[in-house]
Amino acid sequence: SVQVLVAASALDQGVAAADAVLERLAARARPVLGIATGSSPLPLYEQLARRARELPQLRGFALDEYLGLPAGHPQSYREVVRREVVEPLGLDPARIHVPDGGAPDPEHAAAAYEELIRAAGGIDVQVLGIGGNGHLAFNEPGSALDSRTRVVELTAGTREANARFFPSPGDVPTHALTQGLGTIREARSLVLLASGPQKADAIAAALTGPVTPEMPASLLQLHPDVTVLLTGGAEAGL
Ligand code: GLP
Repeated sequence: SVQVLVAASALDQGVAAADAVLERLAARARPVLGIATGSSPLPLYEQLARRARELPQLRGFALDEYLGLPAGHPQSYREVVRREVVEPLGLDPARIHVPDGGAPDPEHAAAAYEELIRAAGGIDVQVLGIGGNGHLAFNEPGSALDSRTRVVELTAGTREANARFFPSPGDVPTHALTQGLGTIREARSLVLLASGPQKADAIAAALTGPVTPEMPASLLQLHPDVTVLLTGGAEAGL
């Protein structure tokens, strides 16, 4: 079932999200965290950094990664995860995994990543943001609800949305490796953060519209434990 919480501020949103995440991780003997990049989860990571002492020894898996950026590129999700999550939260970098966007055979890297998640016992709490078009990770509209980790092509809209992080729009990679919607759905709990009016339509469609590959985030309706934390107008369509 989906529990929706509207927070008065990004701070309150982060505090509530951290409560939801820590409570669920504490219940697991060998906790595994699913890590999302993007601006949406930052209020959560800020609170988890403040409460780093409460964090158990974690293993972690990032949702996605650009294909083809040179190793160490500051906008590669491997680097973003290191800067925004691993270091502030004091996680053990050797236990945090990101899909290999530099692999010579990316489809093989995708399959290997699935295997790594399975070997870790699956993801306990998957942190999520949502794209303005309803994408989860890099699962764009049209992604099968049972899709697995794979190579995907980014839509023009997603490349535009992410162009702000690159010197010029042409520098945004065209492809990525992403956990599939089926992979995300298998996490024991999902915690999604969204803020701002530009997410309102996607949130309303995901939570109250039909469950369809055209709205990847509508898979939330199929999951038994979802917490959605909204602020800053993302709740406007509900
Ligand atoms: C990106 C990421 C997603 C993220 C989304 C929204 O393309 N691949 O995982 O949830 O877009 O990003 P933001 O939170 O910055 O709005």
